[in-house]
Amino acid sequence: MPGTLSAIPISSKDTNLRTAAVIPAAGRGVRLGPGAPKALRTLGGVPILVHAVRAMARARAVQVIVVVAPPEGAADVRALLDAHGLPESTDISVVPGGESRQESVRLGLAALPDDVDVVLVHDAARPLVPVETVESVVEAVRSGAPAVVPGLPMADTVKSVDSATGVVTGTPDRSLLRAVQTPQGFDRATLGKAHATVTRDVTDDASMVEQLGVPVLVVPGHEEAFKVTRPLDLVLAEAVLARRRATDGY
Ligand code: CTP
Ligand code: MG
Repeated sequence: MPGTLSAIPISSKDTNLRTAAVIPAAGRGVRLGPGAPKALRTLGGVPILVHAVRAMARARAVQVIVVVAPPEGAADVRALLDAHGLPESTDISVVPGGESRQESVRLGLAALPDDVDVVLVHDAARPLVPVETVESVVEAVRSGAPAVVPGLPMADTVKSVDSATGVVTGTPDRSLLRAVQTPQGFDRATLGKAHATVTRDVTDDASMVEQLGVPVLVVPGHEEAFKVTRPLDLVLAEAVLARRRATDGY
């Protein structure tokens, strides 16, 4: 009957099950130049990884976090996280990562507890993603989308090129393109299947799910969810953080 509780559609997800975030942080950060592994470099005096963990924990839905540390650095990363006083309400574990991002995510997924049905995968290198972006991804998965990515329209015109000659081979219609970010959110079983079956090298998790033929939904991303990749990104990240600290008590 309309207007009664029984008329509310029952979600396909059991609400007793938890949402987890896997944070791959095992990369070196070669494009950032010489120095400590990227996730351990600081932004406003706080390691990039700690910012990323806090960004996930800030979302109320996220109750479990698995950090994927550099292969030899799991104990150091555990100590670093403990030293930064993270929220007690979030269950945070640390596992060693692998040679590629894909391998690191796979190792993180293997460490998830059984009572998790929705998984976010979030680059440690995106320390400033706003909580609203995280929540909108979780919400879209909880509403039934098996795979969800935050995306933004492209600012630049993009060309495809022949990498051997440098000659342009095409100009895709920019209005059809999106630059995608993280966190990317998934129904756990779908992401698990993708990681168990897709072996082709990829740079994000959604593309593995696409290879299974599963639809991937794009929700609005956020400029401040940019990835710290090159030295200029550190300058931008410091500026965004300084502004947040001055205006929002961040
Ligand atoms: N990552 C990972 N394990 C790897 C490689 C990358 O967990 N073997 C993680 C990075 O730590 C980062 C995320 O994947 O948080 C996105 O990767 P990217 O921005 O490419 O980081 P790096 O691989 O560290 O940087 P670069 O490619 O410049 O070396
Ligand atoms: Mg990389």
